Amino acid sequence: MNRFEFGKNWQSFLNNHFSNEVLEASKLKLADFLKVDTLADKTFVDFGSGSGLHSLAALELGAKVVMSVDYDKVAVECAERLKANSPYKENWQVHQGSLLDSSFISGLGQFDIVYCWGVAHHTGNMWQALENISKNIKKGGVIFVAIYNNVEGKLGSRMWWQIKHFYNKSPFIVKKIMEYMYISYNFVILLLHLKNPFNVMSSYKTKRGMAWSTDLVDWLGGYPYEYASVREIFDFYKQRSFELQNIKTTNYIGCNQFLFIKK
Ligand SMILES: C[S@@+](CC[C@H](N)C(=O)[O-])C[C@H]1O[C@@H](n2cnc3c(N)ncnc32)[C@H](O)[C@@H]1O
Repeated sequence: MNRFEFGKNWQSFLNNHFSNEVLEASKLKLADFLKVDTLADKTFVDFGSGSGLHSLAALELGAKVVMSVDYDKVAVECAERLKANSPYKENWQVHQGSLLDSSFISGLGQFDIVYCWGVAHHTGNMWQALENISKNIKKGGVIFVAIYNNVEGKLGSRMWWQIKHFYNKSPFIVKKIMEYMYISYNFVILLLHLKNPFNVMSSYKTKRGMAWSTDLVDWLGGYPYEYASVREIFDFYKQRSFELQNIKTTNYIGCNQFLFIKK
């Protein structure tokens, strides 16, 4: 199967955009959505850890154990690199593995907090991935999950699937042209909305500590790609005895975010 090389994009994020400012933004957004001031004494697993930024944020918020898991070798190297430069070597484990590997996932144990932001829909079998990781949550523990919204219509999720599919089967040069065109298109759209693209880029850091260009390439290329409606995600967790604690939804092709507690 064609897969987007997420790890390379995260490596470029760490090389070009990682700073104390983005770490602080990630901590703020994480604590805010979890509705906590501290993660002291909590165990935390970051499924599909990408750059490792949010694992580091959890440790900075006081988590006693953090486990970062990613399928992509380069993403795993990213988390290892942040770990090596952090004071948290004792409390931070990094593993390479897939959310679709049920025996690997169940062997990781149970956690107070499962964080899986923008990951399950990129595994190739979103519902199986969500099923597997639903077992890693302790009773009374929570899962913070973000899943691409299902937008109906010609310019909706189906069209995005086709764009991403085309990007991933294209040769390197076509990929680079598509990236250039997509970034330029977004630049022009901002100008047409009378927004200064450079201000947008620099203020983008406050969004979970991410970078505008990294996210644009991820949106264009992120494949495999699936999506779900708010109702589908809600029903999935309700059937498994989870209760909704927090939610942030979108009407567009972005991620709906959910916090569920295991009863
Ligand atoms: C869009 S990124 C999100 C990264 C991070 N969670 C964040 O919010 O910044 C998706 C991540 O999921 C990882 N991923 C994709 N399929 C996976 C799988 N089957 N098992 C584990 N990780 C996977 C990718 O390698 C990538 O790092």
